[in-house]
Amino acid sequence: MIDDLDRIMHVMDAAFDPAYGEAWSRGQVGDALVMPNTYYLLAGIDGSDPQEGQQAAGFALSRGAADEEELLLIAVDPAHQGKGIGSILMQRFIETAQDRGAVRLFLEMRDGNSAESLYRKYGFDNVGRRKHYYRRGMGTPLDAITFVLHKK
Ligand SMILES: CC(C)(COP(=O)(O)OP(=O)(O)OC[C@H]1O[C@@H](n2cnc3c(N)ncnc32)[C@H](O)[C@@H]1OP(=O)(O)O)[C@@H](O)C(=O)NCCC(=O)NCCS
Repeated sequence: MIDDLDRIMHVMDAAFDPAYGEAWSRGQVGDALVMPNTYYLLAGIDGSDPQEGQQAAGFALSRGAADEEELLLIAVDPAHQGKGIGSILMQRFIETAQDRGAVRLFLEMRDGNSAESLYRKYGFDNVGRRKHYYRRGMGTPLDAITFVLHKK
């Protein structure tokens, strides 16, 4: 029996390049999911909720605080990338977070991540840079870029 933690980890393990250390462990995701202010969305291969017993093609994980919500992770299985699933997840994230009362949506991205075009497509603006935020073993640390979207 596949549960939602299995579905998230299936995409997590496939989508994130281990070189950047961005993927969360099963324990980290499991701990997050029991927090009352943590939300997730799953998408099957057509962008809607995955069918019973099916793995997911993508997920989004976010955390709310007061009238803000942060998109912690968004990922699509590489086998299904480039088909609009990330866009559907982003659109659903924006709508559901705003329905919960969020007026500012934040996210943080490793400098150079091609996900930037997805964020800009949905109106997120670059509002800051945290120098050397992502440490990666012997590699050069990378900056984090902060994006925000204000509710209209
Ligand atoms: C970022 C990510 C979620 C996008 O998912 P996706 O399903 O491929 O996204 P979409 O097909 O909806 O494409 C969204 C936009 O991304 C861009 N894009 C998609 N595929 C691309 C590619 N191969 N190269 C460059 N840009 C691409 C396009 O701008 C596209 O918009 P468009 O369709 O209007 O042209 C996915 O690439 C991913 O899981 N990446 C690895 C995990 C990650 O780094 N997540 C972000 C940090 S948490």
